[in-house]
Amino acid sequence: MSRFWNEKTRNIEPYVAGEQPKPGQKVIKLNTNENPYPASPKVKDAMLEVEIPTMARYPETSSQIVREELAKALGLKPEQVFCGNGSDEVLAFSFQAFFEQGEGKKPLLVPDISYSFYPVYADLYNIPLKKIPLKDDFSIDVSAFCEEEQGGVAFANPNAPTSLLLDLSDVEKILKANPNHVVLVDEAYAAFSGQTARDLLPKYKNLLVTGTLSKSHSLAGVRLGFAVGDEELIEGLCRIRDSFNSYPVDCIAQKVAATAVAEKEWVDENVRKICATRDRIAVALRERGWNVLDSKTNFLFASPVTVTAESVYTKLREKGILVRYFNKPRISEYLRISIGTDEEMDALVGAIDAIAEGK
Ligand SMILES: Cc1ncc(COP(=O)(O)O)c(C=O)c1O
Repeated sequence: MSRFWNEKTRNIEPYVAGEQPKPGQKVIKLNTNENPYPASPKVKDAMLEVEIPTMARYPETSSQIVREELAKALGLKPEQVFCGNGSDEVLAFSFQAFFEQGEGKKPLLVPDISYSFYPVYADLYNIPLKKIPLKDDFSIDVSAFCEEEQGGVAFANPNAPTSLLLDLSDVEKILKANPNHVVLVDEAYAAFSGQTARDLLPKYKNLLVTGTLSKSHSLAGVRLGFAVGDEELIEGLCRIRDSFNSYPVDCIAQKVAATAVAEKEWVDENVRKICATRDRIAVALRERGWNVLDSKTNFLFASPVTVTAESVYTKLREKGILVRYFNKPRISEYLRISIGTDEEMDALVGAIDAIAEGK
């Protein structure tokens, strides 16, 4: 605390990211939903092609080469695509662009358990927020998002950390019930779910779908997120970007990201492997008495049931395996476990067995 901090800085509760290992520390890292497989070798080639004189210049502001590749891959126009420094930044811009700020304004609706950055951004930008409790089975309460139109809606689908997918027909109900406000569907994990709300874009001008290359495309360290939607929504995001930082994506990230998006077969194969490992480990944990939610993501949300989640988290950490534990109401008996390679996941299951045997 410093006397120079303003009121916002004093009072904000910042987002807490998953633990990052110290340089040189060897761990099995299953706590931030990264991709355990590297991006295609062509991505490295692309990175090395960036010329030193190019680095002397500011990058192209809109990440045009990435937008063009994304548009091609997703069957959209480049004007329907916005790129930013990770989808975290794209979400922050979206909150600023589309949800009303200030006391007395209609609140933004979010699920009570969802990506924990949403309440942080709402607080940072003075956006009134109403949290809609998930149902007892952790699914999104669709009817509560459809009651009386408020100041917009934001949710992750599949949701995090629950890993559960809301069917597209339910997403559509929410869009229909909120025609005058933006419905933001955060699809950070959609590649692992076999479904995307992008299919609804031709029908709904109030739909904004965000995505990221951090998970499916193995580029968490590069920071490239995107939003797709009606051209006027994208223009709104550009207005906010250009009021904050005209160059959010650097020239190397643009080249790397555009190449990674073009490497569709490589990405699809990694996603397929991750989903197969996910389903195998879900079975293994259920065989051990764990309650594992039906994940459509690259992580499992699972409760050990007979012992506390916190004790398992701590013991795994002692064994050099990092998973995510949220000491929060309703989910404090669950662990969020990112899907690693088969070897890493076998080591996880082995460690869980050892812990159960008191080792
Ligand atoms: C639901 C959700 N949205 C967005 C993000 C942010 O992803 P990034 O900023 O790496 O694109 C994450 C990261 O874990 C996430 O879980």
